[in-house]
Parts: sequence; structure tokens; C-alpha cells
Amino acid sequence: MAGASTAFDCSENQSLLDAMIRAGRCGIKVGCRNGGCGVCRVRITQGRYSTGKMTRSRISEGDEAEGVVLACRVFPSSDISLEPLPLRAKGCLK
Ligand code: FES
Repeated sequence: MAGASTAFDCSENQSLLDAMIRAGRCGIKVGCRNGGCGVCRVRITQGRYSTGKMTRSRISEGDEAEGVVLACRVFPSSDISLEPLPLRAKGCLK
């Protein structure tokens, strides 16, 4: 994660959150690890990635268009830069 206080390796078949945990790093909040609770919200500011299913009550289509995703559902295909975001109250979509 360029521009942040930590960096870690992540393979393409591993989520960002799992890679962070395996590397013993912190910075992104860890919850269900399943795309449902929303505590691992981040904004991807640079890099390519794909995503798995994310709960729409946590990540709207507008969020996704702006790079706001759930780290437990992000699978990078290049180096990624990101910023952790606070949890949004359920049902408060843009
Ligand atoms: S840890 Fe719960 S949505 Fe990612």
C-alpha cells in the first residue's frame, strides 16, 4: 500500500483483508471476512482489482464506481493503494 504506513504482499486469489491478516499487519478493521458487516470498507486509490459479492447495504453501486469496496472482497491484479474508511451505518447509502 503506497503512501500508507504499512505494505504487504497479496496474491491474486487472496483478498486484501486476508493478506493483511496473514502478514500480521493492521490498518483495516476485521469483521465477518465475508462481505456482510462492512467494517473493512476501504477506498482503492490506485491499482487494478476484482471484487466478490458485497452487501449492497454496505457498498452501493455509486461507492463501487468511486473505488469504495470491502477489503475482504477485493482481489488485486496489480499493486494497490488504499485508504481505510469508517463503517457506514446500515441503510445509509448515497
Ligand atoms: S470483514 Fe465484514 S464485510 Fe469485510
